Amino acid sequence: TQKRLMAPDIAAMKRRQPIVALTAYHAHTAAIADRYCDFLLVGDSLGMVMHGYETTVPVPLDLMIMHGRAVVRGARRALVVVDMPFGSYEESPAVAFRNCAKVMKETDCGAVKIEGGRRMAETIRYLVDRGIPVMSHIGLTPQSVNVIGGFKAQGRQREEWAAIEEDARQVAESGAFGIVLEAITEPLAARITASIPIPTIGIGASLACDGQILVMEDMLGLSPRVPRFVKKFGKVGEVIEDAIRTYAEDVRTRAFPTPEHTYAMQDGAPSKERR
Ligand code: KIV
Ligand code: NA
Repeated sequence: TQKRLMAPDIAAMKRRQPIVALTAYHAHTAAIADRYCDFLLVGDSLGMVMHGYETTVPVPLDLMIMHGRAVVRGARRALVVVDMPFGSYEESPAVAFRNCAKVMKETDCGAVKIEGGRRMAETIRYLVDRGIPVMSHIGLTPQSVNVIGGFKAQGRQREEWAAIEEDARQVAESGAFGIVLEAITEPLAARITASIPIPTIGIGASLACDGQILVMEDMLGLSPRVPRFVKKFGKVGEVIEDAIRTYAEDVRTRAFPTPEHTYAMQDGAPSKERR
């Protein structure tokens, strides 16, 4: 069996090879993505994708732990990173440590991700010093949607650049092993990627990043509405609908199940035809 990648393995990929990542929320899709991805993120986007919340704000810690466990069981080689949900880490480094340690112990994941730049620098240092690998997430930070006023691209005006670059610099300096850049323009992503020693993982942040991540259901073509930065690599929504429509027809016309999907008696007697 192959060794599972760890946070430093991902960090070492910067400038060597593009880092491939996807979100994963459950065991069977994690097992498939594991064959092609360097890390899998159990994103708090699962609240929206799997559970129908409007934003990621309501997602509880226990839900992250349930899905984190499923993904760790499903994946063998990829590093599994679990998102810390809103409210579980912002209050203080000590609260963050308690909740991150709970996530690591109960899921066996290899790292956690927290949103926020400078304001989380002290917490990142505190966690890393105590054995918790941390991935950062800056640019558009969806847990702050109620402050930002919507899911909007960041850094589209030059005046915004300095603050976002400073966020990246400080989280890198605090010991994060990687940083997600969400919904920022290419020139800003290029400047950040060139100026920090840890890999940048882009989502809607251009080719200038060291790696890419997408929400799996979005890139598979399952999510009904997706942001501009999503390329649909599949038509899973259509595949599912075709299968369910055919199943419904087959049940209504009594074309399913047939003897091949029915248990025989052990004495070999054929099952009795109904009606
Ligand atoms: O929750 C999530 O899926 C994420 C990725 C979009 C980076 O944070
Ligand atoms: Na997230």
